[in-house]
Amino acid sequence: MAVIIDGKKISQQIKDELKEKVERLQAQGKKGALAVIQVGADPASSVYVRNKKNACAYIGIESLAYELPEETTEDELLQLVNELNDKEEVKGILVQLPLPAHICEDKVIQAISPRKDVDGFHPQSVGAMVIGEKGFVSCTPAGIIQLLKRSGIELAGKHCVVIGRSNIVGKPMALLMLRENATVTITHSKTKNLPEICRQADILIVAMGKPQFIGAEYIKEGAVVIDVGIHRDENHKLCGDVKFEEVERIASAITPVPGGVGPMTIAMLMNNCVQAMEEEEA
Ligand code: GUN
Repeated sequence: MAVIIDGKKISQQIKDELKEKVERLQAQGKKGALAVIQVGADPASSVYVRNKKNACAYIGIESLAYELPEETTEDELLQLVNELNDKEEVKGILVQLPLPAHICEDKVIQAISPRKDVDGFHPQSVGAMVIGEKGFVSCTPAGIIQLLKRSGIELAGKHCVVIGRSNIVGKPMALLMLRENATVTITHSKTKNLPEICRQADILIVAMGKPQFIGAEYIKEGAVVIDVGIHRDENHKLCGDVKFEEVERIASAITPVPGGVGPMTIAMLMNNCVQAMEEEEA
């Protein structure tokens, strides 16, 4: 049976470390706020935004909430982002996605100053990550690296297969694993022989967005399996992209849903906010 990688526990450790760091920074007179912008009232987004605000309160960072109506225009949102870019006390800006269809997400992401881009979504942040320069790294993939490292899982020389090629998870995930000296294969919806490729993985990272899709036939004995998916099953229970009970019997370690990757995303957002506070004079 696989070891269950406890994302709740590891994310709590990280938040406790950050809380101490924030106390030290504040003692040096460094402080700052995270601006969290939500447009509309999508219930899932509201939950994420609330969790982010609570995490800020826990580690001792101020959060400024901007809850804008669904009808907010692109220009109005861009103007707010520009104002926040210029505000000294705002160290991080987070625009919760998805945005309503009439607003171009790329345009909004690109308006955020890369110095305040705590989501790591700005093309400059992405470019810096690709070439290994300093910058903010996308929170979910960064959280997965922490989950693996803090679970004592060796990455160098391992074959890591990533399922999914999104800008937020799949692509940055593959690059971060490469930075850790893993051998990386990226797969996606058009990949042929997916089970065969996945069975070659020492570390399988599943971010395909299909509920309980990955079963035993995708897993090599003793592989480490990271499940990024989050869905509701037919009984309204949370589940991932992986058939947990079936895969748990073959893997050496596995993340559960909930309580695996999810809590790490917020912990790494807090990490980026602290990084932004530290770098204010840089
Ligand atoms: N929507 C879903 N995940 C995220 C995230 O990590 N950041 C932002 N800004 N929006 C999201």
